[in-house]
Amino acid sequence: ATAADRAAGAVITLRQMKDATNIYGQEGYRLTVTPEGVTIDAATATGFFYAFASINKMLPACVAAGVRDAGVTRFELPCLTVTDGPRFPYRGFMLDVARHFFTVDEIKRMLDLMAVYKLNKFHFHLTEDQGWRWEVKKYPRLTSVGSVASNTYVTSMQHGAYWTNRPYGPYFSARAELKDIVAYAAERHIEVIPEIDMPGHFSAAMAAYPQFSCNPSGPHRVETWGGVFTDVLNVADPKAVRFVKDILDELMDIFPSKNIHIGGDECPTTAWENNKQCQEMYKRLNLTSYRQLQTHFIDEISTYLRSKGRKISVWNETVTEKGADLQLMKKTGATVYCWVPARRGAEIANELGLPSIYTVYGPYYINRAPSKEGWMATLPGNGSDHLKATYENQPTDFKHSIGVQGTFWTEHVATADVMEHLALPRLIAI
Ligand code: ACM
Repeated sequence: ATAADRAAGAVITLRQMKDATNIYGQEGYRLTVTPEGVTIDAATATGFFYAFASINKMLPACVAAGVRDAGVTRFELPCLTVTDGPRFPYRGFMLDVARHFFTVDEIKRMLDLMAVYKLNKFHFHLTEDQGWRWEVKKYPRLTSVGSVASNTYVTSMQHGAYWTNRPYGPYFSARAELKDIVAYAAERHIEVIPEIDMPGHFSAAMAAYPQFSCNPSGPHRVETWGGVFTDVLNVADPKAVRFVKDILDELMDIFPSKNIHIGGDECPTTAWENNKQCQEMYKRLNLTSYRQLQTHFIDEISTYLRSKGRKISVWNETVTEKGADLQLMKKTGATVYCWVPARRGAEIANELGLPSIYTVYGPYYINRAPSKEGWMATLPGNGSDHLKATYENQPTDFKHSIGVQGTFWTEHVATADVMEHLALPRLIAI
């Protein structure tokens, strides 16, 4: 700060450094605290935002909490210099709002927390076998039918795990609510990456619009329990592919993110193998595996999204499943989310020149049991996915790994208290 700044009472001086990109990175900053005041050097608004996040952490906890504490009367910063910048451009948290639904306010609490820890990507898992959780104007049955299950499973810290034996839903977010989440995240320098999981994990959509499945006469249902189901999209039916593109049009209208996650995990090929249109497509394209129908579908959706200025993200099965067409996957430029086998997925992504995100099954699956004590006994996992395991598992050697993500699935978790209890502190470690 100049003498004139000081004379004007400035205690915090922000200096935008045009050349700072080389020193601290696009999101980095240098924070200097002296008895005369605070100076922050950064290249971008995000860098300044993170400097203030660090200042927040140095002040008494009531400041970050946004509450008054009558016992706290002094607000002092230590004199120091912090030079900080992220190791990875992608620092994510995924929340599955499909197995169980979470409200706008519950999501905003997590976005606040992400901002404190300088996490910058919220991967919003919106659809599943167990529920379709966002409003699509053109296809109202996705929510009127697809967001209601006949029963649901709850884990309670007080009462343990139980089935409610009551219908669950309709629960979904309206367009305006989703836009509110996007805006709230943007104020915290967080990009919201929506995911429509397809062509598998699509039972809720198929229950709503069975004409786009491989077996229109059914049976179809919104599932109540987790797993892998065979009621997948008929990728060989042009009308079914149109259905998906229409859905993606509405998704892009709500979510400005350049990245659109289209799932691709855990998709059995059995329904395709037994469907006439799929058999014909298999022959017409001279395929050697029904898995390649999935690759062709991904390529078509990728081309469509690219024509709208977007790019796709996918789970690692799209490159690790036997029979997948890797050269076609390479062409899509997809970002590969690596969960199992995470390292193999990242290695293949590397070989194909595709960026990858490391979210390893186990220590980065932060819904899993960190211990088996008390009410946590019924959670998935044997208790080995604890904080130390999260810290010790890092993506060290992947040239194209652009970052890490804590992934939270909600088959067992119906409420925000349990979600927060399990996600933390492992998300902080990530
Ligand atoms: C996944 O856990 N099915 C991505």
